[in-house]
Amino acid sequence: MMDQAEKLRQVIEELKQKQLGNRMALPAIVPKRSARVITVTSGKGGVGKTNITINLAIALSEQGNRVVILDADFGLANIDVLFGIVPQHTLLDVIKNRKNILEILTDGPSNTRFISGGSGVEELLKLDRHQIARFIENMALLDKLADIIIVDTGAGLSDSVMSFIMAADEVLLVTTPEPTSITDAYALIKMVSNRDKTKSIRLVVNRAETTTEANDVLNKLVLVADRFLGLKLEPAGYILNDEAVARAVKQQQPFMLIYPKSYAARNIREISAKLVNKEDDGKTQQNYGIRGFLNRLVSFMRT
Ligand SMILES: Nc1ncnc2c1ncn2[C@@H]1O[C@H](COP(=O)(O)OP(=O)(O)OP(=O)(O)O)[C@@H](O)[C@H]1O
Ligand SMILES: [Mg+2]
Repeated sequence: MMDQAEKLRQVIEELKQKQLGNRMALPAIVPKRSARVITVTSGKGGVGKTNITINLAIALSEQGNRVVILDADFGLANIDVLFGIVPQHTLLDVIKNRKNILEILTDGPSNTRFISGGSGVEELLKLDRHQIARFIENMALLDKLADIIIVDTGAGLSDSVMSFIMAADEVLLVTTPEPTSITDAYALIKMVSNRDKTKSIRLVVNRAETTTEANDVLNKLVLVADRFLGLKLEPAGYILNDEAVARAVKQQQPFMLIYPKSYAARNIREISAKLVNKEDDGKTQQNYGIRGFLNRLVSFMRT
């Protein structure tokens, strides 16, 4: 017969085993996950950034990633127009502490979500350190809610766009095969390389007439950036010139949804698959997430 003490010891031992079992079921190290922040930009305007942002977001989402778009092209409400959705609130509401991050996330198609920038950046500059810290803490929830955050910027070499480029974990640089677009892309790469030669820039050629033309542009830019600027560009792919894009824009619907079999949609899917594969390769450098992004953004904007 077991005495009471012995019985108790046995129960405790069983409990311990159970707890151990539960603990073993968890991964040994729980990785602290941050979202990948990718800024989409270009030297010249009108080359397809917003269309690429939206359709890439949908492709990434369809491939199982949680995607949030940040519309940082302040002034022109681009994403809303292309989605045909009017957001109720903007980033400004979080900056002014009127809404929390969940309240400014608008549902887009295919499980994507987006944040309208509003006149956010200018307002951000007016905050004191304390208010900025609170804003960043509010936004930090995005690291838990998203795997990838895609930031759509305006074109050009302005200080504010440069801040978004330098603050991001990665940059997706869009150019068309037009010489003016290529020279402006090169000028932008040069500005980045003057600040940080290790910046991860992926290059996308949009509106190429043929695959050969696209690859020529990709190869040439990769070559000159390496030779003259010492910066390693990563070719991310191309999108053919496709009338499905303009047709979709007129209908205020992403081409991924209404023309999923178009050349453009196929090209976007290839870019998307490549972007996510890179991470598996372990090639992607550390992600600093939305917190790192905003901290850097604010510090760049203030200097
Ligand atoms: N692959 C493509 N094939 C055909 N037309 C395209 C393609 N990509 C973009 N376009 C056309 O270019 C227009 C501009 O695209 P978009 O608004 O995405 O450019 P953007 O770079 O975001 O412009 P901005 O610099 O003004 O923000 C589209 O409305 C569409 O008509
Ligand atoms: Mg745009």
